[in-house]
Amino acid sequence: MLFQAIKKTLDFPRSSPVVRQGYIDFLAKTFALSHNGHHGLEHWMRVLINGRLLAERNGADIEVVEHFALVHDVMRENENMDLHHGPRAAEFIRAITGTWIKLDEHQLHLLMEACRYHSVGRLDRNVTIQTCWDADRLDLGRVGTVPRTAFLGSELARDQNFIEMAIMRSKKRFVKEGFSDD
Ligand SMILES: [Fe+2]
Repeated sequence: MLFQAIKKTLDFPRSSPVVRQGYIDFLAKTFALSHNGHHGLEHWMRVLINGRLLAERNGADIEVVEHFALVHDVMRENENMDLHHGPRAAEFIRAITGTWIKLDEHQLHLLMEACRYHSVGRLDRNVTIQTCWDADRLDLGRVGTVPRTAFLGSELARDQNFIEMAIMRSKKRFVKEGFSDD
């Protein structure tokens, strides 16, 4: 079971009411690409960790950040220049609101905005949206890219030690047990 394999990751640095077994399984099955690629479950877990570490310190809405980690790439159709996967994720969020996602209107707006524009290289003044993007960009080490501070939106995200720790995590695998794409 997926959840068992990644339970340790999900509890780091704390467990969450947002990230549940059924939700993870549902998203993992919805994802059309390989989870062994650059945008699957391994990446989602690292974005989740980055997001939690940032939100703990900067006051971002943790529920929005956690949902973002899990859904922002779920609608990808390829591993490369899939320009519309952000807007598709926003539509997907609308479709699963009330079932898998239970947020108030403001939170939902933030989550959809964060997903819609997450890959266009912007900065945003809203701390929650920016934390989502920072959490994602801090995992660029998985493709051999060092995150650029010009594209990171908070002091903590731009901290050299924090970036180095994220790069170290980006090279690790978190789904340790028997994960397959079946
Ligand atoms: Fe991503």
